[in-house]
Amino acid sequence: MKLYDEIGGDAAIAAVVSDYWHRVSTDELLSPWFSTIDSRQLRFHLHAYLTVALDGPELYKGRSMRHAHAGLRVTGEAFDLLVLRLGESLEAVGAAPQNIHRVNARLSQLRAVIVEVES
Ligand code: HEM
Repeated sequence: MKLYDEIGGDAAIAAVVSDYWHRVSTDELLSPWFSTIDSRQLRFHLHAYLTVALDGPELYKGRSMRHAHAGLRVTGEAFDLLVLRLGESLEAVGAAPQNIHRVNARLSQLRAVIVEVES
């Protein structure tokens, strides 16, 4: 079964986006990356991000992850923190630990193409 469905489908994802949006937009280390884009774009980012992370029904068709993040100077620290915060949001909506682990494993594969500055 797809991670998306296992985590609870649309309803669970909507709850994750709300919770995650709050965590990211108030995070001291992460928020600067999103301060130049508006809140609608941040929600869009989170939604697209979750589509990639969970392999949902609307498969992501945007720019490649390398292209989308080129020049943003994303640090290793920020990357790890974003993944950690997502784990917390998934936990908050009741996702099983093994599913959170699968999401982490999938996102970790993108580390090398997104991170430009190793901190
Ligand atoms: C962990 C894995 C990540 C995934 C799967 C991911 C996914 C995405 C996606 C799907 C987009 C939209 C691309 C488009 O259609 O144009 C995007 C854009 C963006 N991401 Fe990420 N992202 C990740 C990590 C990060 C991190 C760690 C940061 C910064 C701390 C970040 C900051 C941004 C910003 C600022 C944009 C907007 C770029 C623009 O519109 O010019 N992302 N990301």
